[in-house]
Amino acid sequence: MEGKNSKKKVYTAPKGMHDILPDEQVWWDRFYNKAKDVSDFYGFKKIDTPLLEDADIFIRGTGLGTDIVEKEMYTLKTKGGDFLALRPEGTPSVIRSYIENGMFNWPQPVKLFYYGPMFRYDKPQAGRYRQLFQFGLEMIGEENAAADAEIIQAVWLILNELGIKNIHIELNSIGCPDCRPAYKKFLKTFYRTKASKLCSDCKRRLKINPLRILDCKNESCIALRENLPPLFDKLCEECRGHFEHLLEYLDEMQIPYNLNPNLVRGLDYYTKTVFEVWSNDDAGSLALGGGGRYDGLVGILGGPKKPAVGFAFGVDRIVYQLKLRNKKTETYHKNKVYLVQLGESAKKQIFGLLEEFRKNNISVESSLGRDSLRSQLKNADHSRVKYCLILGQREVIDGTVILRDMESGLQETIPIDKIILELKERLKKEN
Ligand code: HAM
Repeated sequence: MEGKNSKKKVYTAPKGMHDILPDEQVWWDRFYNKAKDVSDFYGFKKIDTPLLEDADIFIRGTGLGTDIVEKEMYTLKTKGGDFLALRPEGTPSVIRSYIENGMFNWPQPVKLFYYGPMFRYDKPQAGRYRQLFQFGLEMIGEENAAADAEIIQAVWLILNELGIKNIHIELNSIGCPDCRPAYKKFLKTFYRTKASKLCSDCKRRLKINPLRILDCKNESCIALRENLPPLFDKLCEECRGHFEHLLEYLDEMQIPYNLNPNLVRGLDYYTKTVFEVWSNDDAGSLALGGGGRYDGLVGILGGPKKPAVGFAFGVDRIVYQLKLRNKKTETYHKNKVYLVQLGESAKKQIFGLLEEFRKNNISVESSLGRDSLRSQLKNADHSRVKYCLILGQREVIDGTVILRDMESGLQETIPIDKIILELKERLKKEN
């Protein structure tokens, strides 16, 4: 009950989660439209999977010993007793759907893309959220290194066409169940006498997954691995051949990459190729996306043996990059005009005009509840339209309308029956 002294609680979004306000949507749309266009072109089909899944698919798929499953998963028990998780990533969900819907009977490879929020109970900081958006590409049923190259090419193209060009790809091969166990064993022996110098996380990793020691950012762990022979020197013939083919394809496509023997990725299902995309601008910051091959996952989740490869963009981080690079160019909403009316007769005429605009595919905004020119122009300014149309008593009588360029402030009077044509011409030039 509200008492005299009761304080009103101010509600905020949950920690590490945030709203995407109307003004920011332009960046998110811009990324999604480009990513979807390129994915469509490469033959990827959209898939949506539930935000909640049986927690087991992540425990078995992503891996019990990974940070994502061990520390970051939001889980719940339903009233019916099911143990569910808010998806921390999309790959196991897509593979669950691939198996459940018998997609292994479709012509292979099956190429899918998805877009939406993922949830990780991570320590919130710049670029690291608890609700994060990913756009993922998965190609299932193709083992040839050309598939890995195709995914990398699509990723490269999407970023380049968005104007995010100052980037590079970190690349490695982490082998397969044939050659990796020997390297893991070698690592255990290598670190046995040095264990006391490892950080506490790596001491634990030495027991569960010694490969993860390779990408530890702790200085003493970095120093310890200085003389370590890289994993790609120990790959089996099959993995080495696969990796060499991939490098040839990337060279052919002129996609630059850095071979990084310490890149192992924090998810358990990877085999052979692993890669990440980084911006060159803010070194030491965060990956814009990551992916790799996961030939065992379909089998692990109960399906037939099917090779697969994929990648996911961290969309929050891409949007940050887009904002950094395009401060000016996105200032105006390109295909939109603002209608300002002054007086009752103008207001009535506007209702008819609105329909004309809709038929001609021009978006309009107006504030019919406002009467003053000043407040309507202020709203138009806030909506960041390039053009504003002003219709007053005089214009209604003359059969004209004033066209105002919001950037320069210049105004012209145009006959009302020519305004659609005039606007279409101008908007076409703007685009
Ligand atoms: P991941 O490396 O865990 O891979 O995530 C992919 C990208 O999501 C990261 O590179 C990063 O940009 C973004 N991301 C991850 N965590 C956060 C966070 N807490 N806040 C903001 N952004 C974040 C996967 O999820 C794999 N499923 C990728 C994949 C697809 N592999 C094969 N197919």
